[in-house]
Amino acid sequence: MRIVLGVGGGIAAYKVASLLRLFTEAGHDVTVIPTEAATRFVGTATWEALSGNPVSNSVFDDVHQVNHVRLGHEADLVVIAPATADLLAKAATGQAGDLLTNTLLMAHGPVLFAPAMHTEMWQHPATRANVETLRGRGAAVLEPASGRLTGSDSGPGRLPEPDAIFDAAMALVHGQTDFQLPLAGKTVTISAGGTREPLDPVRFLGNRSSGKQGVALAIAARNAGATVRLLAAHMEVPPPPGVEVVNVETALQLREAALAAAADSDVVIMSAAVADFRPAEISDTKIKKRDDTADPVITLVRNPDILQELVERRNQGVTGPAADRQLIVGFAAETGDEHGDVRAYAEAKLQRKGCDLLVVNHVGSDKVFGKDTNSVVILARSGSEPQEASGTKADVSAAIISRIGFELNQVSHRA
Ligand code: C5P
Repeated sequence: MRIVLGVGGGIAAYKVASLLRLFTEAGHDVTVIPTEAATRFVGTATWEALSGNPVSNSVFDDVHQVNHVRLGHEADLVVIAPATADLLAKAATGQAGDLLTNTLLMAHGPVLFAPAMHTEMWQHPATRANVETLRGRGAAVLEPASGRLTGSDSGPGRLPEPDAIFDAAMALVHGQTDFQLPLAGKTVTISAGGTREPLDPVRFLGNRSSGKQGVALAIAARNAGATVRLLAAHMEVPPPPGVEVVNVETALQLREAALAAAADSDVVIMSAAVADFRPAEISDTKIKKRDDTADPVITLVRNPDILQELVERRNQGVTGPAADRQLIVGFAAETGDEHGDVRAYAEAKLQRKGCDLLVVNHVGSDKVFGKDTNSVVILARSGSEPQEASGTKADVSAAIISRIGFELNQVSHRA
């Protein structure tokens, strides 16, 4: 496929180098047209080297090839990233002062704008009007992702992740209308890893959760356009870039972090392995091994069920203005026994916990924990058909996040 990649003059231009790689690695022939301002962020040499094609934004280069007409005509797809407020305005008003704007006027195939700018510029009535004009003419304008902006503030205006723009572009080319990022503008809190419950300053009770599934979910949610907050208990993998991380150790710390984070979250996913019990007492000093005393006995007390508490608070409307729409997702690691199979136990857990979706793992000593693959069933309290997903933890996460997007859509239609 022939793609024109128009790069606007915003700091997010540096991320577009990765988007270019995704296009070329998928076998597409990409011509990059950076605006004059874009080359102040990422130089022409980078675009030429990565695309393997000459790069210019002047209508006076290679005039014999009539580039200002040809490039738009021949392109199967035009992608503008980052689409700055200035580029959106130029496109909406049909300006033709350089090669990129000429190409937009000549584009015969689908055109995708991936905006990135400060929240106030994105929300300004002038930009809103320009976006509506472009959408009205059939162009696809992605919602920007939310989160940390270039400065210290945050809000909608981040460039969607390169993977997400790539997926949206492919969906558009294949005529799909649901190219928007499914979680754009949403805040998603995800707990991951395993809690550690201290016995003394050196010992703890832990579990075998690696945090891989939770981190894969964080990446999938981020790529779907959400602002992601990762409540990280003990994990064997690093948290991904582009998400806010809150480190916790114990179930009680996780409870505190989860209740605070839930206050402004559209979605809460409890994928952490939370210890059901903690030692009743934590010794201030290391418990000594002595021959003259009896072996220590550890008394355990129950930890609060965070998932259940989140659901209760949501149902009581304590969670904030969006409480009635908040979607809560639990995980269940189950084994079957002589009293019932995995599915029967999971159904009972879904009812008991009251969450909207329950992602069920069938666990055994060789399954799930620390592995890169997973196989799950997603049960819904709404009673809709159970959905199976398997593959890498990234594949499973993509299925879970897409299901969450679908459920949120249902809720907003009901509201
Ligand atoms: O009851 P069980 O531990 O099997 O439930 C698992 C689900 O409940 C997971 O989503 C887990 O994160 C959550 N959980 C919790 N608080 C606990 C125990 C589990 O939120 N104390």
